[in-house]
Order: sequence, then structure tokens, then C-alpha cells
Amino acid sequence: MNPSFYIISLIWGIVAIVLLPVAWVAARREAEALHKWVMCLLVAGGWAFVINYLFMSRAREAYMELSGPFVLWFAVHGLVGLLTLLVATALLVSRLSSKGKDIESEEGSFLNRKHALIGTITIIFWLLTHIGGILNLYLLG
Ligand code: HEM
Repeated sequence: MNPSFYIISLIWGIVAIVLLPVAWVAARREAEALHKWVMCLLVAGGWAFVINYLFMSRAREAYMELSGPFVLWFAVHGLVGLLTLLVATALLVSRLSSKGKDIESEEGSFLNRKHALIGTITIIFWLLTHIGGILNLYLLG
């Protein structure tokens, strides 16, 4: 595998594993600004990683050589990772675009009314995806 992709993936995985609990604790403690900026960073970083992986790196070639049960595991990992990022993006966009509205009331969208619950589930899957990603580097490396 491309060594720079390996290093970037490893660093990004570790950063995310540290920052996701930080964002969750910040939300619970009502440290709104910290929660918001960590989430913006994680979602932007997540998309940068996916775009780099799909279109710019040659890491996919290493995945293409896989066979047997690994194929299923990598498919599950990729699918869960992508879905998690999509839900996180939806949570972020709906929160940022709801300025001035009473989001807890009926006026708020489903995503905004259930923000904490959906966010907690998303963070759990997101953490698992990153832990799985580091395991993948070990398997492919
Ligand atoms: C992937 C997960 C999440 C994303 C992308 C996300 C994103 C955001 C963003 C962008 C804001 C800022 C809104 C603004 O400035 O107007 C925000 C606010 C907030 N989030 Fe999250 N969040 C997530 C998970 C969570 C979780 C797990 C909790 C609770 C445990 C939570 C609770 C809150 C609270 C209390 C606020 C501030 C108050 C409010 O705007 O009503 N969030 N979130």
C-alpha cells in the first residue's frame, strides 16, 4: 500500500477516535461551540478522506486483491462508514440551517428533534468504523 496513504489514514483514525468522545462530552456538558467545531472538523475530514480514498489514492488496489471472508468484512466496513458519514452530514446541515427556529418543538425537523439520540448512535458506529479502519491497515499492511 502507498505509505503516505497508510500514515495519513492512521493519523486521521487516531485523531477521530480521540475527537469523537470529545464532541460527545462537549454536547453533554453544553459546551456548544466546542461540540459544533469538532463536528464540523470531523465531517469535513471524513469527506476529505473518502474522496481521497476513492479518487486519488491507489489504496483501492490493495483492497481489490482481497479474497474470502475479508471481502465481506471490507464491504461491511465501507458501507457502515459511508452511511455514518452521510447521517453525520445530515445532522450537521440540519442543525446549522435551523438558526432562529425552535428546534425542540414541532417546528423542528425530525433530525433536529432527535439530534442527541441519532447523534449518539452515529458516534458509536463512527468510532467502530475508525477502529475497524485501523485494523484494516494492519490486515493490508
Ligand atoms: C454525528 C453526530 C453529531 C453531529 C454531526 C452534530 C452536529 C452539531 C452541530 C453542527 C451543532 C451546532 C448547531 C448550531 O450552532 O446551531 C450541534 C449542536 C448541539 N448538539 Fe450535536 N452533533 C452530533 C451529535 C450530538 C450528540 C451525540 C449530542 C448529545 C449527546 C448532541 C447534542 C447537541 C447539543 C445539546 C447542541 C447544542 C444546542 C443546540 O443547538 O440545540 N449532538 N450539533
